[in-house]
Amino acid sequence: MSSAEMLHVGRPISRVDGRLKVTGQAKYAAEYPAADLLHGCVVSSTIAAGRIIRLHTDRARAMPGVVEIFTHENSGKAARQDEDWRDDIAPPGHPLRPLHSDRIQFDGQPIALVIAESVEAARDAAALVRAECAIEPHCTQLEAKRSQAYVPPEKRSGIPPPSDPRGEPEQAFAQAPIKFSREYRVHAEHHNPMEMFASTCVFEPGGKLTIYDKTQGSQNVQSYVASVFGLKPANVRVINHYVGGAFGSGLRPQPQLFLAVMASLALKRSVRVALTRTQMFYLGYRPDTFHTVSLASDHQGTLLSIMHDAVAETSQYEDYQEALVNWSGLMYRCDNVKLSYQLAKLNKATPCDMRAPGAANGVTVLECAMDELAHELDIDPLELRKLNFASMDGNTGKQFTSKALDACYREGAAAFGWSGRRREPRAMRDGHELIGWGVSTGTWEAFLQTASARARLTDDCKLEVSTAASDIGPGTWTILTQIGADALGLPLEAVSARIGDSTLPASPVEGGSWTAASNGSAVQAACEAVKHTLFKRAQRMANSPLADASFEHIEVKSGGIGRKDDPRRSLSIAEVMHAADLTEIVEDGQASADPEQAKRYVSYTNSAVFAEVRVDEELGIVRVARIVCATAAGRILNPKTARSQILGGVVMGIGMALHEEAMIDHRLGKIMNHNFAEYHVPAHADVDDIEVIFVDEHDDKVSPLGVKGLGEIGIVGTAAAVANAIFHATGKRVRDFPITIDKLLAA
Ligand code: MOS
Repeated sequence: MSSAEMLHVGRPISRVDGRLKVTGQAKYAAEYPAADLLHGCVVSSTIAAGRIIRLHTDRARAMPGVVEIFTHENSGKAARQDEDWRDDIAPPGHPLRPLHSDRIQFDGQPIALVIAESVEAARDAAALVRAECAIEPHCTQLEAKRSQAYVPPEKRSGIPPPSDPRGEPEQAFAQAPIKFSREYRVHAEHHNPMEMFASTCVFEPGGKLTIYDKTQGSQNVQSYVASVFGLKPANVRVINHYVGGAFGSGLRPQPQLFLAVMASLALKRSVRVALTRTQMFYLGYRPDTFHTVSLASDHQGTLLSIMHDAVAETSQYEDYQEALVNWSGLMYRCDNVKLSYQLAKLNKATPCDMRAPGAANGVTVLECAMDELAHELDIDPLELRKLNFASMDGNTGKQFTSKALDACYREGAAAFGWSGRRREPRAMRDGHELIGWGVSTGTWEAFLQTASARARLTDDCKLEVSTAASDIGPGTWTILTQIGADALGLPLEAVSARIGDSTLPASPVEGGSWTAASNGSAVQAACEAVKHTLFKRAQRMANSPLADASFEHIEVKSGGIGRKDDPRRSLSIAEVMHAADLTEIVEDGQASADPEQAKRYVSYTNSAVFAEVRVDEELGIVRVARIVCATAAGRILNPKTARSQILGGVVMGIGMALHEEAMIDHRLGKIMNHNFAEYHVPAHADVDDIEVIFVDEHDDKVSPLGVKGLGEIGIVGTAAAVANAIFHATGKRVRDFPITIDKLLAA
């Protein structure tokens, strides 16, 4: 479709599901009713390592309303092989099997499930379960295990390991006139979506299950449940119509799912298990990471060597991996690069992809180091980035399908007023506040995943498009509706989308910012197939005015099919269908990456983030007064929902810069701030002016729609821009995220 044919795509359409959400009619996993529903409450371990000697459940069992208490001793039959427990995006290792054995590997591990007739009874009884444990030594401190870090022996599927070294990075570093090595740390962060994790498992006579689950992938959950419990996939239907945020925490099946299904199958009743906010702190998190970044340049600022070594935490049972250091080999042009990435095992749950996994943290430290280099050279930090612009991917030697990062630098700087910046730190002040301006580049891979969709056009000119995608917030319902409407020339009101159901055409999990490109292109392909069928039927009609037309000459719009060059030669959709004795046309479509193209091209979304901070030097308080985020993400399907994605990402980046950190009491191995009172996510008072710019970027290779995706890019670079602004304001460089008051005062 050319832009001229797009009436709805590219317009700031309000969310088609917005009304349902604000009126409370959109149902979430824990809100679905079921007859005779039982409620489960999870009992969590309070030690970080050891063995359960005995679970004392007598008092809990005696509570009125308690139906059953499941522990590792009666959790029933489940799959034996690790493979059966591995979901679509699991890292290598032994996936967590809740209530599988007496072994405890992290604080917060589920050790029992209390099932009762009411939520209250389940919760009260759960509080009475007492675990007698043999405590073993534990470690939750990454610095303590750093020296034992290892290269993961098995790679996680879909995650590129660090690219091989190129050039002579050590030698180039040794000989360079300007150089330094710096240590950075980005502490663990937690996803904290608004919607709580829950699974409502509806047990139907005969053993069929319908599971309302908080997940980013209904089919991922369906196949997990089927393989873990040995069920036919057809007997497991998973629904996630609406998802109240997830940020990656819903990519993998979470323990409440297993527990709800296990109890449901054992008791032959419908069961709901919902987690508490505190329990959600044990579902996975952005891992704590240490980084050593070494940069070397000539006197003009041309990069001569980049070395980035990182150590990240993982659990005792899985080797979680993300693309943490790879960015340092592709964001800037440099012939001498060395990257390394190691893991260290702690007594914590396995980390879990969190918004821009690997980039949000890895790019942050590279971009801080670039700022340090600019300061060292006494050149403008934006100029340094432009000077080292990479016009190809140094990691792979491949071309970018498009890269309008230069436009992001230009338009972002203009909107921010960057040219008015005084270069030296501490040069700008307003009363008792120091003012600083910082900049960072952001980048994230643009993926096209294999996805399928179905389009159903009825003779009353109504279109339904469906795919088993999820909408965790970006506006998937809305953009699929827009794409369908434009593909068949219909008004938005005539189009409905169906997503969030495992029975719909195959879809990957919603993640990696790939849904708009992948599912969107599949919907377009399905609509195109409908158009083709309609055309064939129209041609077959007696005295068809389209008999000698070819498909390229045809357009479907305003309820008719006709020649683009001669609108009088057309037929109504109804008459074509009726002539063929049809009341509907249903076709499937697919999108997938072209392997031939992948040999030569890579695709990334890029951004430039500009931040202004105001720092009260005496109190150490940092306010982020302004952010300008200029993004190049290919075609923007809906500027309104797209802007919301960037706003959300930037807000999360502010959290990474200043607030978010899981605080662990290492003597106990316990997270201490596992609640919204003490784990601070940015609130309205922390967020001021955010300006979102989408620069023009035409990309005819990244995906059939020319879309790159926007879910993650907003967070990447934001924390670095804020940190660099803090340095510019104060002259103090804090290399430990989040940059809290204590660290700033001590610097
Ligand atoms: Mo995203 S961390 O792939 O939900």
